[in-house]
Parts: sequence; C-alpha cells; structure tokens
Amino acid sequence: MRFLDIVTLFLLANLSDGQRMGSFVRPVHYDLAFLPIISGGAPRLCGHVFIDLEPTTTTNLVTLHGADITIIDVSVEQVFLVGKSNSSHSKDRFLQLEDLCFSGLFELVNEAHTVIQEEPEKQQLNIILKETLIKEKRYRLGLFYVAKVNDDSRGFFRANYRNDHTSCCIQGWFGGTQMEPSSARKVLPCFDEPGFKTTYAISIGHDKAMTALSNMPETDTRPMENTRDWRWTSFSRSPPMPTYLLALFVTDYDKVERIYKVCNNRTVKMRFWGQPNQLPHLRQSIDVVPDMLHYMEKYVGQPFTLPKIDFIAAPTQLDFEAMENWGLILFRENRLFFKEGIDGEGDRFQVVQTMAHELAHQFFGNLVTCDWWSDIAFYEGMCGIFEIELTKHAMPNLTFRAEMSQVSAIRSAMKIEEHIQAASVIREVEKIEDTEMMFDPITYNKGSGLLLMLRNFVGHDHFRNAVVTFMERYQFQSVNSQKFMEILDEEVHRNREFGRGMNVTKIMNSWTTQDAYPIVRCTRMSDGRRIRLSQLPHPVLRNITTDEHANRLWWIPISMTDASRPDFSQQGKYPRVWLTPERPTLEIPYFPPASRHHGQETGEEENTWILLNGEFSGYTRVLYDDRNWRLISRQLVLNHTVIPQVTRAQLIDDAFTLALAELMDYQVVLELIEYLTMVNDEFVRSTAQFHLRWMKERTRQNGSLAELFDDYMEKLKFERSDIEESNENNNLIRSGGFDPFDGAGCLQWSEGVCVDKIFRLFQAQMDGTISPEGKRAMTENLERNWCLVMRYGGKDEWKWAWRMSVNDVWSSQRSKILSAMSCSQDQGRLKQLLSRVFHPTIQQTSRDSFVMIEKMADNPLARPMVLNFIKTNWERLGRHFKRSGDNLKLLTSASKYLSTSEELNEMSQFVADLEKRDKKLDRSVTAGILDDIRANIRWAEKHSEQVYSVLEARRVTGRTKNRSTEA
Ligand SMILES: *[C@@H]1O[C@H](CO)[C@@H](O)[C@H](O)[C@H]1NC(C)=O
Ligand SMILES: *[C@@H]1O[C@H](CO)[C@@H](O)[C@H](O)[C@H]1NC(C)=O
Ligand SMILES: *[C@@H]1O[C@H](CO)[C@@H](O)[C@H](O)[C@H]1NC(C)=O
Ligand SMILES: *[C@@H]1O[C@H](CO)[C@@H](O)[C@H](O)[C@H]1NC(C)=O
Repeated sequence: MRFLDIVTLFLLANLSDGQRMGSFVRPVHYDLAFLPIISGGAPRLCGHVFIDLEPTTTTNLVTLHGADITIIDVSVEQVFLVGKSNSSHSKDRFLQLEDLCFSGLFELVNEAHTVIQEEPEKQQLNIILKETLIKEKRYRLGLFYVAKVNDDSRGFFRANYRNDHTSCCIQGWFGGTQMEPSSARKVLPCFDEPGFKTTYAISIGHDKAMTALSNMPETDTRPMENTRDWRWTSFSRSPPMPTYLLALFVTDYDKVERIYKVCNNRTVKMRFWGQPNQLPHLRQSIDVVPDMLHYMEKYVGQPFTLPKIDFIAAPTQLDFEAMENWGLILFRENRLFFKEGIDGEGDRFQVVQTMAHELAHQFFGNLVTCDWWSDIAFYEGMCGIFEIELTKHAMPNLTFRAEMSQVSAIRSAMKIEEHIQAASVIREVEKIEDTEMMFDPITYNKGSGLLLMLRNFVGHDHFRNAVVTFMERYQFQSVNSQKFMEILDEEVHRNREFGRGMNVTKIMNSWTTQDAYPIVRCTRMSDGRRIRLSQLPHPVLRNITTDEHANRLWWIPISMTDASRPDFSQQGKYPRVWLTPERPTLEIPYFPPASRHHGQETGEEENTWILLNGEFSGYTRVLYDDRNWRLISRQLVLNHTVIPQVTRAQLIDDAFTLALAELMDYQVVLELIEYLTMVNDEFVRSTAQFHLRWMKERTRQNGSLAELFDDYMEKLKFERSDIEESNENNNLIRSGGFDPFDGAGCLQWSEGVCVDKIFRLFQAQMDGTISPEGKRAMTENLERNWCLVMRYGGKDEWKWAWRMSVNDVWSSQRSKILSAMSCSQDQGRLKQLLSRVFHPTIQQTSRDSFVMIEKMADNPLARPMVLNFIKTNWERLGRHFKRSGDNLKLLTSASKYLSTSEELNEMSQFVADLEKRDKKLDRSVTAGILDDIRANIRWAEKHSEQVYSVLEARRVTGRTKNRSTEA
C-alpha cells in the first residue's frame, strides 16, 4: 500500500466505533470479473470489481469491507444514467486480470490519486479519493485486487478429490464460495452487510475443462485472449441480493438436468451437480424439489424468482450442512446424495429435510432478507417451520420423523435455556465474532418454536395471509421481523379476532427480547369449579438470583383441553385465555369457552384431568397440582392413546424438568411413566429414558441406588415390539426385514433386538455370505446393530469394523461405524479408537473425530479416558477442529455427568487455567460446565433418598418382566 501526501480527509472522524459500516455511500450494483486459480501449489485469485455507488452525502471517503485483500488499483468515474460511460474500460479489465494473475504483470493507472487505509480489526478498507463524490449523483468505483484461496470452507475455498472416473488417480479440483455471514469480504471488496442489496453482473475466468457457475444462468463464454485453454464465462444480471448469498463456483462435475415449471408457467432449469459416480444417488433429492418448490410458491404467493437453480455438493467436509445461495445451493455430500441400500431412512430424512430448509430460504432470506444479523431468528425460524411442512408434504412416509424432529428441536432449545443463561432470540450484534455466534440453537430452534406458537395463537389463515402480504410488500428488500409482526397485527385486528389491548409486536417482543421461558402453573381450586393460572420464569440452574430474572413476565397464550372433551386438533391449540405482564395470575372458571367455539362449556368435573399447552402449542412448560398429574397418569394407564404422542412426550419431559427444578416431586413423576412398563410407546419411552439415565448417572456414587435404577430401567425395556400396536412409530424400532416372531429362540435381548441374530448377521457380513434382506436389515439400523456387536463381541469383530472404518466408505456410514465402535467395553480397544484422532496414517476428518469423541463420552467406561484426552490435548484438538467452540462442546459432553466434589475441583482448576490461557474462551460455557457439576452434586444430596424410597416401593409393586409378550 502506498500513501499519498496530499489528501483531504474529511468525515473520517465521524466513523462509528462498532464494526458496522458507516454509510456515506450506498452500493447499487456490482460488476465483478473474477479469476481464481485453484489447482497446484500456488492458488490465488484476482479480481476486478466495478461498484456503482450513490453517495448519501458529499464525501471523498468510501469505506468498504475487505479481509486479506490487497487492492492493486482504484479508479472512479461518474456514471450518467442516460448515455454510455466509456465502455472501452470494461474490455481492458479482462486482459489486465489475465496479466495480473498469470504473469504478475500490472500497469498501475489510477492508484496515485488515492489513499487506502486498512483497518484489519474491523475488516474494513477506507478509500480516500482525490475527487469528491457529490450527493445523489452516481459513481463507478473500480478496484483491481488480489485475494486468497482458502482451504477451510470460508470465503472462496478449494478442495480436491480423487477423480475416479478418469483412468487413474487424477486429482479433481473444486472451488467455491461460502459467504454467510461475513466472508464475502474475503472474496471481493464490498459492502458486506445484509442490509445492502444490489444487483450483480459476474464473469468468471476458468480452465476450459471446468464449468463456472454462479447465482444466475450463463449468457456467454469466450476464450481468454492471452491464455490458452482458459475462458471467460459471463452470467446474466441478478435481482437485488445481499453479499452473503453471492455464489461463485468452478468445477469439473457432471450434471443431471430437469425442467421445473413455476406457478406462472415460466420454466426454471434445475441442475444437480456431482462426480459421475455420484449422479445415481441424486434420485431422492431430484424427486422432492418440484413438490417442495411448488408448495412454497403457493404458500407465499410468489413464483420462484430466478430462471435456474443449481444444486451442488462440496467434495469436502463442510462444517455446515448446506447453504442457500440464491439459485446455487451448496450441500455437504451426505445431504445431497442418498445412497439406496447403504443409507438408512434416518439419512433419507436428513437429505429431504436439508433440501426443504434450503428451498424455504429461497423465499425467506433470499427474496426478503434480514436487515441485520441480530434478527435472523425470524428467517431461520420460518425455514425451520417450512422444513417440517415441506418434508411432510413431499414425503408423507416421513411425517412421523418430521414431527418428532420438530419437538426435539424445540426441547433442545429449552434445555439450553435451563442450563445456561442463554442469549435472547433477538440480540445486539456488533462485532464479527457476534455475527458467527448468531448461528446457534437459540436462533434456529427457539426461533421456530416461537413462530409456531405465534401461528397457533393467531391462527393458520391469518399467519399465511401475513406471509403473503409480507412477501409482496418487501420482496427484493431487507427488512426487520418487526415488519412481519405489524402486518400480522393489522390482519388480526381487521378481523376483530383480538381485543384492542392485544398487540402482536408487543406479545412477541416479550419472547424474543428476553432470554429464558416461563412455566405456567395450573392449580385446580378445591371446589373443582375454578382454576388458578400463574406464570413464573424457569429458575435456570445457574446460580442467578437477581431480581431482574425473577421479575420477568411474558404474554402467554393458554390453550386447554380436558378428559371430557379431549381436543388436540388445530382448534384445540387456540388460546382460551392469556396470562399477561399486567395480569400474571388469573383465576378462571373451570374450562372457559374458546372465543372461536360456540358451545357453552362450563363444567365442574372434579375427576377429569385438564391439560394445557397440548401439542406444544406454546413455548412453555406446565406445572399442575399433584392431583391433576395423577389424573393424567391414570389416563395414560387406562388408555394412553387419548393423549397424542407428542403431548405424552411433552408431559413427561415437563415433569422431569420441573422435578429437577424442584417444583415437583419425583414420586409424581415416576407415577406418570408407570404406563410405559405396560405398553410399547417408543418415542415417549426414549424421552423418559433420557431423564432416567441422567438421574442414574448422578447417583453413580451410591451403589445400591444405582442398582435400583438398573432394575427400574430394565422394566422400561421392551423385549420386542408389540405387534398389535401398528402405529407409525413402530417404523422406528422395527428394523426392516425383521420378522417379529423370528426371535423365538433368542437367548439374549438388548434394546429390543435379539443379540444372537445381530451377531449371526454380522458374521455373515464378515464372511460375505449375507443375504440381501439381512444386509438391508443391518444397514437400516447400522449404528445400533454394530453397537451391540462391539459391546458384546470379540477381537475379530472389532478388527473387521476397524478395517471397514478406514476403507473408503461413504462419509455418513463411516461416522455411524465410529459411533458404534464407541460402545466397546474393552479399555484397550477404546484407547485405540481415541488414538485415531491424531493417528499418523489415518486421515480422520475433524467431523468424524467430533462425533466419535462425543459418543465415547456417553460410554461410562470411556468417559474418564475422553476427559483426560480432551484436557491433555486441548490446543492440538483446537487446531484439529476448524470450528471454534467444538472443544468446549466436547468438554461439556464429557463432563455433564460429573457429580463429586473432587471432580468439581479438578474441573474448576482446569477451567481456571484455560481461562487464563485463552482470553477469547466463551465463559458462559465454562461457567455452565461448573454449574452443571454443582447441580449434579446438589441433586444427589437432595433427592437421592427420596428417589431411593420411590424406586424401592416401585420394585415391589412393579409388574413382571414378560408381561409384554402376554399382551
Ligand atoms: C399454464 O399452462 C396451462 C397448460 O398449458 C394453462 O392451462 C394455464 O392457463 C397456464 N397458466 C398461466 C398462468 O399462464
Ligand atoms: C418412503 O418413500 C420413499 C420414496 O417414495 C421410499 O423409497 C421409501 O422406501 C419409503 N420408506 C418407507 C419406510 O416406507
Ligand atoms: C404495538 O406495540 C408496538 C411496540 O410496543 C408499538 O410500536 C405499536 O405502535 C403498537 N401497535 C398498535 C397498533 O398499538
Ligand atoms: C449461590 O450463590 C450464593 C451466593 O453467592 C452462594 O452462597 C450459594 O452457595 C450458591 N449456590 C450454589 C448452589 O452454588
């Protein structure tokens, strides 16, 4: 960088301190010529960009984002909207770029007029021009620059792969971009904030053996003038879009092409890209796209915007699943390709779900964009909702999985909020690091949980009308979620559905701008005719006793149903009353009429249960009086199907969570799950087991209690599926191809499968004598089946699995095998498994390491080993995982069951040490780790005795083990 001596420096002092852009100019269009050289030892990229600007004030300063970018030359000229500017310029730039990138030749033309100041900590460049830009005129800033090709899937990155379709061992190269949230600034100097939407005209230079792709269709391709075998490909001008959606790819992949007709009959070209041997595995993805796009277009009332859409997978382990670049969606390989016969239904679900999420983004996020990162929960949350809707629509046989996945996602966000003081959904974001942190489960899962609640309380029709208006009014713009709430508010008030005091914006703000969530307490008055409702914030396990936390209040919609008119339909999710910050406690007649129903419903049923918040209609948990819990328990025993599965799981999850928060008694909780010893209710059982397991781990120190737990949990296990109960959830446990009666001679059962049979199949797989049906059965539940073999098997099975895991297996299969291997009960083998992370000859991806270590931490035998490994290899592991925070996540997993004061001391010491060494460490996480251990200790002290006596009593009265086969 060279500096000039004569400059007029005005306005520089006014620049903001934060890392957001000071806005003296507004970009309106980019014209980018982009030349990446990705193969070989000196990857580099050269570019020239014209940015059309409109100053919002008269200035000579242009501030742009740029990171690791070297500006070579700057030009500026005024653009006259009528008549052409000197277009001779735009031809030269291609030649100049060729010279610059291939031979390092560059003739400076303009730079002498300019000063460039870099502000690396803000990732900004200040360009101080000699000429003054006049407000409201338009200028074209031209920048020649050189930037980096990365290897870490950020900015413009490259990857190579073995090119199996040529004769031998030729490397194939792949180059592509990942900009979100703020890596576009590594690829070109630009205004890298989602609030700036502009059009783009792009040309990419590439080897003629490769194909160049961008958001828009190619319009023209021509040979380079001085460089043999290289070409320039140009693309048509895009509609306005933010920098983070920009996509630039070069690849030698093949493609499968399809035509899609949008709702106004325009045709859209769909292309699915992959290596030739991958193309057959695209069928699942290709099948669902038209249905899903069509559903979205109909719902939002807008056709898909662009003339084409490409789908491409990177030949590398991306640290995200997929990226919704407008018209050019990038996937992780195992999210675009589904391998029939190798992948199971769970993988199919994830392929379909990922596609659904990214297609929803083509509207939420791409057509209308957030105006700043602090508000992405609305857009990600919407995509979370549609990902489930689209999956159910396009793949009806995945409906059950889709619903369970939605419930699990919401629950996981609540659990985070129960353990640490999490951030609010809408939060301040100023620094680049904050931006990255926005992409967390609170944004995604709480975001969609809150929108689902919103949809329930305004009703599906109003919600949809608001979406249609929102899309129509704000397409091609960047807006805040507040705008959506305003539209919805108008919508519900126009229809007089809401009282005047109800304001959608205000209601939603109470959820999005404060952390944590409320518990609704529901108590029946002794006369049975009235109930009292109140709200209290969940007492997070962290030792927070500030008034601020205690005084939190929400607007809470309360839906309710009861035993005499159980209604879990859409209607039943509509609120009958509200708890508000002004009226946080409410006494109402038992069962008030719903505003939408016309029945006069008053009752005084003393012996009927009442149920609030059914089917997760709100983002809360409900605390009943003991009598009501017992009425519910009785219902579950008599006929659990009266209450649907999602609600059953929710009740049990609420009960365990509330007991943990010391708001209810374990006696009542264990009564609630009693019915699970009589019927096979797989999803709900897994919810109960999740909590029981945790309780059991906490009582590890207490031998006799642990034994009681083992006994009790044994009772909850089913030796096989109840065949008479043929509801959809059986798909999850009944592995394809298994005859439920075939296990008659089975000697050893585990987790509902016959161990003998799995062993026989595994042996057959080792010998290569396995039948096709056997193979299918093994792969459908690969992880569980192999886990059994690793747990009970010997050296031969272990060695065979090990060999399989280092063979060139499909990535999703490999991570299942590694997970299964972590089930081993042999110290030596577990040690060997852990050694793979830094193994000199095994190329283990960081993703595989992460999954494997996390699974190992679940195995009590491996846990101390894992903890020690993480502690002693902290820095090295940090370098192994590219994603910051992965180390901490693993430490959290490996320490979550620690429950003695020695363990606490050891961990405190380690954490204190870490905090000293690493100033950037996320302290809310380390504090959470220590708080959880303290909570475990406290729990054991407080509850062991009671749990002991409850379990002891259950042991005597519990039913015998084989009842399920009598049924
Ligand atoms: C689309 O094409 C179909 C069949 O060719 C025709 O019936 C329909 O009217 C067309 N719709 C529009 C919006 O042009
Ligand atoms: C679900 O549907 C897909 C596609 O129609 C099919 O290939 C798959 O086998 C089905 N799965 C089940 C469990 O029926
Ligand atoms: C709703 O509440 C928001 C935020 O408190 C306020 O700005 C808005 O004016 C209110 N709308 C109406 C119609 O009262
Ligand atoms: C909570 O904080 C108070 C005051 O700092 C302390 O006395 C108490 O022991 C803490 N409780 C737990 C469970 O850590």
